[in-house]
This record gives sequence, C-alpha cells and structure tokens, in this order.
Amino acid sequence: MLSPVVGGTVRTLACSSWTSVLPVRFRSASRLQSPAEARFHSASASEAGCPRVLITGGLGQLGVGLASLLRKRFGKDNVILSDVKKPPSHVFYSGPFVYANVLDAQNLCEVVVNNRITWMLHYSAVLSAVGEANVPLARAVNITGLHNVLDVAKEYNLRLFIPSTIGAFGPTSPRNRTPDLSVQRPRTIYGVSKVHTELMGEYYNYRYGLDFRCLRYPGVISANSQPGGGTTDYAVQIFHDAVKSGKFECNLRPSTRLPMMYMDDCLRATLQFMEAPAESFSMRTYNVTAMSFTPEELAQEIAKHVPEFCITYRVDPARQAIADSWPTSLDDSLARRDWGWKHNFDLPELVTTMLNLHGCDTRVARAN
Ligand SMILES: NC(=O)c1ccc[n+]([C@@H]2O[C@H](COP(=O)([O-])OP(=O)(O)OC[C@H]3O[C@@H](n4cnc5c(N)ncnc54)[C@H](O)[C@@H]3O)[C@@H](O)[C@H]2O)c1
Repeated sequence: MLSPVVGGTVRTLACSSWTSVLPVRFRSASRLQSPAEARFHSASASEAGCPRVLITGGLGQLGVGLASLLRKRFGKDNVILSDVKKPPSHVFYSGPFVYANVLDAQNLCEVVVNNRITWMLHYSAVLSAVGEANVPLARAVNITGLHNVLDVAKEYNLRLFIPSTIGAFGPTSPRNRTPDLSVQRPRTIYGVSKVHTELMGEYYNYRYGLDFRCLRYPGVISANSQPGGGTTDYAVQIFHDAVKSGKFECNLRPSTRLPMMYMDDCLRATLQFMEAPAESFSMRTYNVTAMSFTPEELAQEIAKHVPEFCITYRVDPARQAIADSWPTSLDDSLARRDWGWKHNFDLPELVTTMLNLHGCDTRVARAN
C-alpha cells in the first residue's frame, strides 16, 4: 500500500504547527485527508460560485495585473495579493494584501486558513537570468517553495495554478512550434525548477486528485510593471526606452526569435483556464502563446510609430545562451482545442498598445 509513505512524506513538510491554526474540534484529524475533510477545507457549496483567491509573489511583473483582473471578476475582497516585499501604496490600498513567504509553510497555512482561500495562484519565483546569478536562491524559492505550496494546496484542497515557461524547454527540444509534449532538458536552474513544477503538479493531480493547472507562458510584455530578471526582459524595457530617449541597447542578438504574449492575453488565458471545467482538459500543463518576433522585427515595428527610434546591440553572453536554448515559437493548438484559448494581440497591436500606454504614462509623469 502506498498510504504510509504518503503520510510520512506529508508530515515532514507543510504546516508543522497545524494545531495552532485549526479549530480544536479538528485537532485530532489525520494528516491524510478523507473526502469529508477535503470538503471541509475546500469551498463549501455556498462559496463554490466565488473563489477566495491567494496570489503568491504578487508584487512582481505579473501579480498586480492579475489581482486587478481577478478582482473585477470575483470582487475586490475575494482576491488577496501577497509577497515578501513591501507593497507600494497604490497596491496596498487597491485591495487585501498580506505577507506570505513560500519558504515558510506555516505562514502559508495561516494565510490560507485565516482567509478561507480556495484558489491559489503561485507566482513567486526567481526568473532565468537572476536564477543563473544566484542558484541557491532560485533552488530555494522555485523548488522548496513549490513543495510547500503543493502540500498546502493538497491539505486544503485548493485549486492551484502555477505558471511554467518556455524556459522549461532546452537545447534538445524542438525549437520551432515546440509541442506540449517534447524533450525537456533545460540548462538553467529556472528551467529545471519549472520542469520539476510541471511534473510534481501533475503527479499530485494523478496521485492525490489535486486540481493542479499550469500554463507555459512565453515572454510576457506589460506596460505597468518592471521586468523581473528574465531573458525576454528586453521586449519590456525597449518600450520604456523608446518613449523616454528614442534609443535602446538590446542585450540579445537582432535575430533572436522568441515566443511572446501581451500581458492582457496572458492574464485572460490564466483566468479562462482557471474557470474551465477540468473535464475539458486532456492534460494539466499547456503551452499558450500569441506571437514570435526578434529584437530587429520589434524595433522595426516601433520605428513605424517613433521614426527616430534607434536600436543598438550589446549582447550579454549569459542571456544570449539562455535565449538560444529556448523555443522560437510554441505550438499551443491543444489549449485552443481543449478550453478555447485565443489570443487578441499580435505584434502590430502589441506595439500600438504599449506605446500608447507609455505615452500616457510619460505625459502624466511630466505633468507631475
Ligand atoms: N514575466 C514573464 O515574462 C514570465 C514568463 C513566463 C513565466 N513567468 C512566470 O510567472 C510568474 C510570475 O512572474 P513575474 O515576472 O511576475 O516574476 P517577478 O520576478 O517579477 O516576481 C516574482 C515575485 O516573487 C516574489 N518572491 C521571491 N521570493 C519569495 C518568497 N520566498 N515568498 C514569496 N514571494 C517571493 C518576489 O518578491 C517577486 O515579487 C513566475 O512563476 C514566472 O516564472 C513569467
């Protein structure tokens, strides 16, 4: 029987001070959930229509926008943003925010219990370029943190979303229209930790019935947040610099083609995937994408709007090596078939939208 192994494993991981956060009448409950316990920890029937959402690592490039979309959908107070950083005041006053460190399983349990969380979107991570510069940190946050998150999600029967990345592929993966299922031998700690995430999440789904959902995002481009140390950061920074100074120094070669997606599409895909019935899934980890372009092609598109725009190249060998090992495009046909994924932004719409948003920001900044 497998159950003794499972029990032992769980006991050594999450929620070491379990008794301090549960009502007395549940203190003697076994750590292995019976279906009845799972129902207690999950949304009750009356709550089922409206999830109580926790976003970890929510102060990075993607989390604040995600919270804003989910709050529109589920109500401000049902979406709790968390991070280990101090939130800026506009974020702090825009809705509930708590401290949650994914390296501290007890802290995670308390946040989940105290806020009656039913969905967790786990965004804490150390991204590719930063991870190569600090492997122990990336290993801790991306792997130890993941283990805590998986165990808390299992204990409380949460629906768990974790983004993966094109970085989960490597030099031996097919690079053009990379399919969902293919060789995954990444050469970065970020990629290795994301393959681990995909496999552990799928295993918890198979073994324990955890409602694990995972999308492999391409590079995500957003106007309102700073890039977080990834290899596709150039495609975010280029807009800041084009509007501010009319020039940009790119750290990747002009011909480096990578899959990309505008933030709105990325967040919409995530919400749509989270709301999709599990029966529509043929797997638990899907590629999603919108477009693929090179720095040269992006610069040409920007120059249509900013004629004086000038791009120069000073290649960062570390980032270039990472980019060269990643797919140039993704095949996301299964996401489109299974749960109706459809992107709205191609390169021309992306550039127009980003420049408009930066133009507005710039005018506001000057006025202040
Ligand atoms: N941004 C992209 O282009 C992109 C592409 C593919 C996948 N993703 C994935 O999306 C997720 C979010 O990406 P992002 O760009 O917002 O990342 P980011 O680096 O901008 O933000 C990550 C956040 O995690 C937080 N964090 C670090 N250690 C933590 C800890 N111990 N506990 C709790 N939080 C901690 C950081 O403070 C930071 O705010 C990540 O999982 C990333 O792998 C992002």
